[in-house]
Amino acid sequence: MKNILVAGGAGFIGSAFIRHMVAAYPEYSIICFDKLTYAGNIDNLLPVSDAENYHFERGDIADRAAVSRVLQRHAIDTIVNFAAESHVDRSILAPDAFIHTDVVGVYILLDEGRKHGISRFCQVSTDEVYGDIESGYSQEQDRFLPNSPYAASKASGELMTRAYHMTYGMDTVLTRGSNTYGPYQYPEKLVPFFTTEALEERPLPLYGDGKQVRDWLHVDDHARGVDFILHFGAAGEAYNLAGETLRSNIEITRRILQWLDKPSALIKYVPDREGHDRRYAMTAAKARALGWRRQVEFEAGLRATVRWYQENEWWWRKLKAGDYQRYYQRQYAERLAAAK
Ligand code: NAD
Ligand code: TYD
Repeated sequence: MKNILVAGGAGFIGSAFIRHMVAAYPEYSIICFDKLTYAGNIDNLLPVSDAENYHFERGDIADRAAVSRVLQRHAIDTIVNFAAESHVDRSILAPDAFIHTDVVGVYILLDEGRKHGISRFCQVSTDEVYGDIESGYSQEQDRFLPNSPYAASKASGELMTRAYHMTYGMDTVLTRGSNTYGPYQYPEKLVPFFTTEALEERPLPLYGDGKQVRDWLHVDDHARGVDFILHFGAAGEAYNLAGETLRSNIEITRRILQWLDKPSALIKYVPDREGHDRRYAMTAAKARALGWRRQVEFEAGLRATVRWYQENEWWWRKLKAGDYQRYYQRQYAERLAAAK
């Protein structure tokens, strides 16, 4: 392993992975390949922009010629794919981009990677492929029951990755991370959205009864987990990277308001997300047996994250203009008008 292509490295988790890898492995060359969609942000990579072992190339993982060029130019031997359309609400409004990137893009990356003889391909996936888990904990061999266009597109990317291993003997590994929080997360996802809205004393649109449960993982633990599986995961295998920390949305919302010293009257119960999964929960036993451990405790991690958004308005304020406003109107205007 020497020259690593990190697709989607300008996003939330991909940029945490790059910041980690550039510092941890000076002997590797880390090449970020990113289309810079609305969620891609070069500011996320400012801490490594001067590092000698870091390079940036703009491009689309579904563009075969561009992928082939970057693999050749940097003599890539390893691919880690974070590139995705990643927001469930946007997948409900407009699924097309999810098929383009999370399905076709993954296929093109696999196919070009195989043609260029890369030695390992790591596909970053999600617990959402298992769907709603009423009780218990999802294990790697459980069946896929995706419920949103996002989850179905990620499941499709996984199936194609598996097929390239089974059919062509490609060395692939899959990671399934749980809901991730931390600095540099685009302010459409629950934690950064509610934190930045609360800072401005705007209403927080909580879907349904707010009792849906997610399993939370700090972004640095997610990044270290992908590094770990990339190095030690067995070819053809999938690994849950679970925070094993279940919290309801209302608990998290109350915490954010408490730490920001804002009134609970900001919480607005709005009509639910369509097809909203009630509970995600995974066991990380398989990754743990290999030696991976989550390090960040949830309360401390969430508290530090809320503080980061408080202290880094320069980062998120400019993201909440233009296209974001159009998305906000589409997603929330009617819901907030119907709020209880
Ligand atoms: P993100 O939306 O913050 O970032 C996605 C990145 O991919 C952006 O930089 C974007 O510009 C880039 N991208 C999108 N389409 C592209 C294309 N066609 N070609 C090249 N680049 C493209 O996402 P994230 O939250 O950092 O998630 C990263 C990965 O982790 C995704 O695959 C996601 O499914 C998975 N995941 C996320 C979470 C979570 O809670 N955020 C949890 C588990 C798994
Ligand atoms: P999100 O951050 O979109 O992640 P995911 O859908 O991948 O789990 O949402 C986390 C939870 O918070 C999910 O149950 C939906 C809920 N949620 C709200 O109640 N209101 C909101 O405005 C958002 C963005 C999410």
